Amino acid sequence: MQFMESRQCLQKPSNPFAEPKRCLNCSCRHIRTAHFVVSILLSIHNGGSRLGSLRNKAGSSKVQVKPKNLVKVEMPSATQEINVNETTGSLAMSVDSVINLDRGDPKVYEKFWLENGAAAAVEIPGWQKISYFSDLTNLCWFLEPDFAAEIRRLHRLVGNAVADHGRHIVVGTGSSQLFLASLFALSTAPEVAVACNGRPVPVVSSAPYFSYYPAATDLLKSGLFRWEGDACSFHAGSTPYIEVVCSPRNPDGSARTAIVKSCNGKLIHDLAYYWPQYTAITGAMDEDIMLFTVSKCTGHAGTRLGWALVKDAEVARRMTKFIEVNTIGVSKDSQYRAVRILKAVCDGYELEGAGESAKLFHFGRKVMARRWEKLREVLAANKVFGLMEFKKLHCEFMGKETLPLPAFAWLECGRDIEDCESFLRQKHKVLTRGGKDFGADGKHARVSMLGRDEDFDMFIQRLKAIRL
Ligand SMILES: Cc1ncc(COP(=O)(O)O)c(C=O)c1O
Repeated sequence: MQFMESRQCLQKPSNPFAEPKRCLNCSCRHIRTAHFVVSILLSIHNGGSRLGSLRNKAGSSKVQVKPKNLVKVEMPSATQEINVNETTGSLAMSVDSVINLDRGDPKVYEKFWLENGAAAAVEIPGWQKISYFSDLTNLCWFLEPDFAAEIRRLHRLVGNAVADHGRHIVVGTGSSQLFLASLFALSTAPEVAVACNGRPVPVVSSAPYFSYYPAATDLLKSGLFRWEGDACSFHAGSTPYIEVVCSPRNPDGSARTAIVKSCNGKLIHDLAYYWPQYTAITGAMDEDIMLFTVSKCTGHAGTRLGWALVKDAEVARRMTKFIEVNTIGVSKDSQYRAVRILKAVCDGYELEGAGESAKLFHFGRKVMARRWEKLREVLAANKVFGLMEFKKLHCEFMGKETLPLPAFAWLECGRDIEDCESFLRQKHKVLTRGGKDFGADGKHARVSMLGRDEDFDMFIQRLKAIRL
């Protein structure tokens, strides 16, 4: 089966509120909070003994890992349910293990940082970073100046976005918080408020869209904005709307531009994956609001840090206001760590004699290329799933043509399989995220390509064994 590079538009979303967490043996979508809390309490009760510590080569920064003999996830009986939370973070160790590829948890980068971790190690004495404030002279008063400087340096190095020339930087607790801050800032612009006359501003994105967008937009049932679904079936009238452009797109990795053609729209560009390990850098983006995150750039999802490059000072001010009221700023400790991380990445390219192993984007491309090659090989052999084909493009950063190597594989089940996610979950113990969560059909499922080697290789073994 061959599937050409993404169609421009898909059908209307059937369930914009799709909740990604689900049980292993059924389609139950309840978040089993009590169970989750009990798991946490149990692990605390065990005195953290389930966590081992591993020293990196340079012998400094510690990485917490689970010892091998304790990570096996027992398979449930037919009536038991396993929540995604219970398998997240566990390695699939045997042919019976549940392989969790539902989330884009970027553990693939652990190996790079095991080699290069010393350069990014931090120590913060108790007296430091106590204040709420970072720089009262800056519009975003909780942005650490050193972090802003490293962000600008990184964008200059990679050439993927314009971060100088008066662009404002707003830091957020992950780019997730900046997404909400952007919705707030755009929907409260004076001209938008007048034109909407008390009605919430519609928010759209082309399907398949990142499942987080509808969930986050409608979580608090805001009177300011509401999720409207697929940009392809949205008819812009004379009133304002917001379109989210995710490029490369989560879940299918395709390069995107805005769909709705109207002068009443405001755009949010989510560029979480516009980095050379995933896609060709074809030029410096210069959009009104551009969102980035360390989660997908360097793999530090746990640092919970993202940044927005914003052209308009008033928009940046309202985004800052949202974060001020929401969380009274953003962790200084995280920003301090991120300074070291981004510095290590830039030094890996800019310091003389840094060596090949210090080049993060090259590491990322190498691992992802190996994974995509293996995946395409096994899918070509079993002929059960289809996968999009991508074209090579010239990458200005790498100085050559490169193939897109997306963070997720967007599988399409062939034959008579109507529900790709439950087929993989029930028959093959592989957790993925079903197409309906992305406003697409159930024949599709998103598979994370960002997990550890062991999980990915086990996944390939499972695919090899599928015979219909
Ligand atoms: C497209 C996209 N944007 C934003 C995010 C959220 O990133 P963060 O961890 O910074 O909140 C993700 C995470 O998967 C993503 O895929």
